[in-house]
Amino acid sequence: MTASSAFSLKGKNILITGASSGIGKATALKCAEYGASLILVGRNAQKLEMVLEKLAGQGHQKLQADLSDPTQIVRLVEQCSPVDGIVHCAGIVEPYPLQYFSRQKVDATFSLNFYAPVQLTSLLLKNKKIKKAGSIVFISSIASQNPFIGGSTYSASKAALEAFARTVAIESAGKLIRANCLSPALVKTPIFDEMSENVAADTVDDHVKRYPLGLGEPDDVAHAAIFLLSDASKWITGVTIRMDGGLLVGS
Ligand SMILES: NC(=O)c1ccc[n+]([C@@H]2O[C@H](COP(=O)([O-])OP(=O)(O)OC[C@H]3O[C@@H](n4cnc5c(N)ncnc54)[C@H](OP(=O)(O)O)[C@@H]3O)[C@@H](O)[C@H]2O)c1
Repeated sequence: MTASSAFSLKGKNILITGASSGIGKATALKCAEYGASLILVGRNAQKLEMVLEKLAGQGHQKLQADLSDPTQIVRLVEQCSPVDGIVHCAGIVEPYPLQYFSRQKVDATFSLNFYAPVQLTSLLLKNKKIKKAGSIVFISSIASQNPFIGGSTYSASKAALEAFARTVAIESAGKLIRANCLSPALVKTPIFDEMSENVAADTVDDHVKRYPLGLGEPDDVAHAAIFLLSDASKWITGVTIRMDGGLLVGS
C-alpha cells in the first residue's frame, strides 16, 4: 500500500444515508472524488438526483427510503448491493424543554437517529452485505457528552449510537469490519441555518466566538469520514473522534 493509495476509495462501494443534504451530501461528493461508487439514501428523490448528477466518476445510484419506517429499511437492504463502507448520516435535531416531553417526540428522534442505523447495520451484517474489511461510520455529535438546553433526547440518541458502535466494533472485528463514530460540534449545514433563524443573533455570535478554529464546514467532516472509510485507518475501530474546532479543548 503506497501513501496515497491508503487513502483512496477506488473500487469501494459506499452507502451514505442523509446523502441529500449537509454533511451526507458533502461526504458523497468527496467520496466520489476519492474513487468510490456510491449508494445515496434519503427521502427526497429530487435532492438525491441533484447530488447524483454532481458526483465524479460512474456507477452511482440512489435509493429512496424513509429511514424512520422499519419496513423501508428492510426494502433498502434487499435493494442494495454488498458494500465496503457505510456512513450513517441521516439525523434530526428537534430540541424541546423537558416540561414539553412527550413519548412521541422521543420516538421521532430515536427512530431516525438510533433505531434506523441500528436496524440498517444489523440487517446489512445479517445478509452479508458488508464486505470483509469494510468500514462503518456513524455520525454522532458532541452533544452525546456535552449537553445543550433542550437537547436531552437528541443527546441521548447520539450517546446510544456511540455505545452501539463500540459493540458493532467488537462483534465484527473477526471479519475485519470496523465501526467508528465522528462526533462533530456545530457544522454549517441547513441544521445550523435553521437554528440561527430561531435564536437571537447575539446568542449565535457568542457561541461561534467560542470556536478557536471557527465553525465546521461539511467538508471537514467528509474528509474525516474518508479517512475512516479508507484502508489508511485499518487499525482503528471502536473509537469516537471529536471534531470541534478546539471548542472543548481544556474543558
Ligand atoms: N450540522 C451540525 O451542526 C451537526 C453537528 C453534529 C452532528 N450532526 C449530525 O450530522 C448528521 C447530518 O446532519 P446535517 O447537519 O448534515 O443535517 P441536514 O443537512 O438537515 O441533513 C439531514 C439528512 O438526513 C436525511 N433525513 C432526514 N430525515 C430522514 C428520514 N426520515 N429518512 C431518511 N433520511 C432522512 C435528510 O434527507 P431527506 O430530507 O432527503 O430525507 C438529509 O439528507 C445528523 O446525524 C446530525 O445529527 C450535525
